[in-house]
Amino acid sequence: MKVLAIYGSPRREGNTAKMMDVALSAFPAEAEIKKVYLGGMNFSGCGPCRECKTTGDCVMKDDMQDVFKDMIWAEIILFGSPAQFSDVSSDIKKLMERTWWMKGALRNKIGGYVITGRRYMESVQNTLHAFMLRHQMILGGSGALGFTFTEMGGLDYDPLALRDAEYTGRRLVELWYIIYDH
Ligand SMILES: Cc1cc2nc3c(=O)[nH]c(=O)nc-3n(C[C@H](O)[C@H](O)[C@H](O)COP(=O)(O)O)c2cc1C
Repeated sequence: MKVLAIYGSPRREGNTAKMMDVALSAFPAEAEIKKVYLGGMNFSGCGPCRECKTTGDCVMKDDMQDVFKDMIWAEIILFGSPAQFSDVSSDIKKLMERTWWMKGALRNKIGGYVITGRRYMESVQNTLHAFMLRHQMILGGSGALGFTFTEMGGLDYDPLALRDAEYTGRRLVELWYIIYDH
């Protein structure tokens, strides 16, 4: 069971990371889990080149190249994003744009997410759903949303969010057994 966890908040130990860690706690010990923290990584969104249209590859040589390899390696991809101005974080959005070249490479991978914030969470979900459907991924999970009433530590006020995050992890594991374990 190959799991890629993409932490999409600029804060490495914030609310989103806490939700992610709870979701990952549901995976069995034998799962191989790779964690990628987008915060602090050196990469940009899609550029003007359109090179991938002819080469079938992304020619922008930055930190995203390793993330592409991890995404191709993974059977399950778990995204974590805070709501930032009613949508995914800019790092998650940049990553999404950069996958434009990956035609079919994410097909049938299992995808899930956790989101933190207090309001306007629907657009964050919409963006993640659209991304996964566009790549023909299999959307799993429980739609885990963490309502954070304060900044750091806010999830302590929302035990249901942590329960949902754990359920998201369990659901992704369940789907993996259905799809991959023959
Ligand atoms: C630039 C910026 C924009 C934000 N926009 C929203 C928003 O639209 N809706 C919301 O509920 N929270 C918003 N927040 C709050 C964060 O989503 C919230 O504090 C989140 O839990 C932070 O996650 P983190 O601790 O992983 O960074 C915003 C925070 C920042 C820094």
